[in-house]
Amino acid sequence: MKPNVGLIGLGLMGLPMARNLLKAGFPLTVWNRTRSKTEALEKEGAKMANSPRKVTAASDVTFTIVSDPPALEQILWGEQSALAGLRKGSVLIDSSTVSPTLARRIAEACAERGADFLDAPVTGGTWGAEKGELVFMIGGKKEVLNRVEPVLRTVGKRFFLLGPNGSGQTVKLAMNLILALEVQALAEGLELVARAGVAGERLIEVLQSSMGRAPVLDVKAPAILKRDFTPSFPLRLMLKDIGLAMELAKENGLRLPAGAAAHEAYSAVKAAAKADVDYAAIANYWQKA
Ligand SMILES: NC(=O)c1ccc[n+]([C@@H]2O[C@H](COP(=O)([O-])OP(=O)(O)OC[C@H]3O[C@@H](n4cnc5c(N)ncnc54)[C@H](OP(=O)(O)O)[C@@H]3O)[C@@H](O)[C@H]2O)c1
Repeated sequence: MKPNVGLIGLGLMGLPMARNLLKAGFPLTVWNRTRSKTEALEKEGAKMANSPRKVTAASDVTFTIVSDPPALEQILWGEQSALAGLRKGSVLIDSSTVSPTLARRIAEACAERGADFLDAPVTGGTWGAEKGELVFMIGGKKEVLNRVEPVLRTVGKRFFLLGPNGSGQTVKLAMNLILALEVQALAEGLELVARAGVAGERLIEVLQSSMGRAPVLDVKAPAILKRDFTPSFPLRLMLKDIGLAMELAKENGLRLPAGAAAHEAYSAVKAAAKADVDYAAIANYWQKA
């Protein structure tokens, strides 16, 4: 029999993940702060809970995927919280990007309730979430991962077990710092050639035949050239992740000069943005600064 699955947070990532769980035939209970976002899923067969607590109380495996640490803390420790409903023997999987410290705090709270926890942030974007091809970076025990793998396989394609709780978030923060820097470097190179009188397309052509080639550039270069910043991975979330990476560096007594510069540049673009934009909008830096 398939386990009962719960999912809290039906944003850009959570909604397609929920759809894939439903399509795979898992009995699914969901909760979202803005209730209207759950209506379509209800028609597709999901059960609506009226609190995070009701989700975990109904589930053997529960995913959380919300914006940031305060949102996750609210769900886990706020009113009618997910931790209050957590079943003994169940597994909580957090796929939000938060700090490793928060991940370890959640693991302790789950253990106190006789449940297991995996910090399991993802990469692959909304495209990967829709295709059920996310890549998971996981902190926790192998035995727990083995137990939930059939559920994870419906939303993801690769699962990296990176160490004890917190390790998944550590790797995710380092990875997003690299992505933020790559796209910022791309934006700077494109602006430089444009100002110096060469079309950006020519730079991309050369880049694609060089060591500088990277899949993220395949996606973000056309967006920058077309000035299409429809959010796929919103800049506000990338800025949050750079901030979390900088905090982690500070906790470890480490200076990250490029990270600090990225934090400043992404902050300036976010402050000037009038709408939610993708992080490729770092290319708007020169319009605003
Ligand atoms: N988008 C991507 O490409 C991507 C890729 C990898 C990882 N991630 C990570 O995945 C997580 C979710 O990203 P997303 O793109 O799905 O974000 P999103 O579209 O902004 O959705 C955020 C979700 O968090 C909920 N939320 C925010 N504040 C809350 C609060 N105080 N209490 C309860 N719920 C709250 C929102 O509820 P409402 O609907 O009520 O606003 C929504 O369900 C983030 O940690 C992000 O960094 C995203």
